[in-house]
Amino acid sequence: MDWGLENRIRRMFPAASGNSVMLAVDHGYFMGPTRRLENAKATIAPLLPHADALALTRGILRSSVPPTSTTPIVLRVSGGATILKEDLSHEDVTTSIRDAVRLNVSAVALSVFVGSPHEHESLVHLSKLIDDGEEYGMPVLAITAVGKELEKRDARYLALACRVSAELGAHLVKTYYCEGFDKVVEGCPVPIVVAGGPKLDSEKAALELAHDAIAAGARGIDMGRNIWQSEHPVAMLLALRAIVHERASVKEALEIYDGAKHRTEPVPTIAPSRRS
Ligand code: 5RP
Repeated sequence: MDWGLENRIRRMFPAASGNSVMLAVDHGYFMGPTRRLENAKATIAPLLPHADALALTRGILRSSVPPTSTTPIVLRVSGGATILKEDLSHEDVTTSIRDAVRLNVSAVALSVFVGSPHEHESLVHLSKLIDDGEEYGMPVLAITAVGKELEKRDARYLALACRVSAELGAHLVKTYYCEGFDKVVEGCPVPIVVAGGPKLDSEKAALELAHDAIAAGARGIDMGRNIWQSEHPVAMLLALRAIVHERASVKEALEIYDGAKHRTEPVPTIAPSRRS
């Protein structure tokens, strides 16, 4: 693997555990001002020091993240549909690789819509983005099963979507957790990170999801709503860090959540390796 490409990946996956806690705040690109992400800058600020990477669009990066930040950026570069349309799969590449380089990001991310009306275009877009990415040493993260595809998230479907993405050359894959997730991991030769999906009924349920995904071989999480729609987003992120980096049990993670949720002073974090 090219040095630059590997260096970018390694910065997102701190060496101590080799796993990554990515914070996803890219929802506005098709959902608009989602609940608790209306003011992205305010949502991101307290969470940023505790994330190994931040997933977002260039608009939110430029407007809402200080350029002094050293947190690696996963830049969403696909878009073109909104929740007002039936077919969310009608996306194109909306940000050039040159702009991604200019923004000094650590990876670019694009949705693929396996089984959707625009399956073909999204897979071709992924392939072309990977060609560009290889040229610039820029890793590409394929995002599988967004929007309506969520309804199909069983192991068979997700294994297909992840494997196809990896076969086309994606360096990383984001997908959803499901029963039999070990089969999804087994069939995908590149690291998988899991999204959380819509806010679950409890923090415990989201911690269980992360725990089970890591136990089944996921290399991290790329989670949004179950963190920043939690009553205590920083506490939730710290609890998730313990699961992803220290393989904490759900009980231990809940103790971390309960212990951190009412604190107002700066909370200790498991330091990402880039700061050690
Ligand atoms: C939105 C995305 C999100 O980044 C992904 O779904 C993770 O966020 P959440 O945990 O809220 O599902 O790709 O298009």
